[in-house]
Amino acid sequence: MSISTISWVNGNVKIIDQTKLPLKLQYITCRDVKTLWKAIKVLSVRGAPALGVSAAFGVLLGIKTFKGNDRKRFVAHVLKTCDYIGTSRPTAVNLFNALDQMREVLVFCPDASVAELKKRLKSQAFAIYEEDRKVCRRMGDFGARLIKANNRIMTVCNAGALATADYGTALGVMYSSKKKKRKCKVYACETRPLLQGARLTTWELLRAKIDTTLICDNMAASLMGQGKIDAIFAGADRIARNGDTANKIGTYSLAVLARYHKVPFYIVAPRSTFDMGIESGKQIPIEQRSKEEVTSFGGRPTAPKNVKVYNPAFDVTGHKLITAIVTEEGIIRPPFKVNIKKKLL
Ligand code: MRU
Repeated sequence: MSISTISWVNGNVKIIDQTKLPLKLQYITCRDVKTLWKAIKVLSVRGAPALGVSAAFGVLLGIKTFKGNDRKRFVAHVLKTCDYIGTSRPTAVNLFNALDQMREVLVFCPDASVAELKKRLKSQAFAIYEEDRKVCRRMGDFGARLIKANNRIMTVCNAGALATADYGTALGVMYSSKKKKRKCKVYACETRPLLQGARLTTWELLRAKIDTTLICDNMAASLMGQGKIDAIFAGADRIARNGDTANKIGTYSLAVLARYHKVPFYIVAPRSTFDMGIESGKQIPIEQRSKEEVTSFGGRPTAPKNVKVYNPAFDVTGHKLITAIVTEEGIIRPPFKVNIKKKLL
């Protein structure tokens, strides 16, 4: 699935403006870190792995304008840039893991000159980008083992090429399955309020010629109740040490429904989505977004202006509701606390 969601072109970051899809495939060129920060905030670029790559490239944008050879000043500048990028969105840990990897360059090269550090930061950012491309394909191959020919799969939000450097996590499993001649049928939840499922997932899957049906979020139970879903595959924004998983709001409801209807519920996520520093999902910061995302659509009001709104962008699915987590190192099954450690540490 070749969609170049994010790339480094002539010293700038080129991203697909995902707010314009599915109407237009339009790109934004971010020439400075502020423009990239804004693109992250408004979801022009989004999805946990793509946010990790964006953060790394963002640091490169931040150092473009640094003049001089003073190492101390340069280090302070890089750290400030990393902190600034870290204020864009709080939940996807990939963003913070990537920033930590960029900061580590400074620590591991205590004697390097400014020119040398710039070079090393660039290689680190490219390594993060390449790693994402590589691991998506590996996860796809592992995950495809869970799919039988003609399976009917439900997914939520967009965990595809648009949410990563390319290829995707949960949708990558469907691409790999198709490559292995095990075609599946996908039900994409529209994913209110910002419709990543309706706008992005269906766009991607149709391009890949995968049998795709769009449903409103509140139709999921009815389909499962009719025995029409064989498995659910979702991505993740942050996974705690015990397997509790934050993903797009609505994922938790699908997991509860899946348990009731005895449908396997799979999470697909790379190592960069794990937060080994937290014990459980209770410690995951959940982004709260503006009320306008819920009270209007496409500039048109859909609710009274003065109504109170609750708009968390993510929810946490407890590990007990998850059948398995597909990673680039293989498929992790319960008990997650023990097996995540075994597989990833
Ligand atoms: O708010 P978004 O669109 O960034 O949310 C994205 C998701 O919830 C994805 O499912 C998650 O990041 C995994 S992407 C491979």
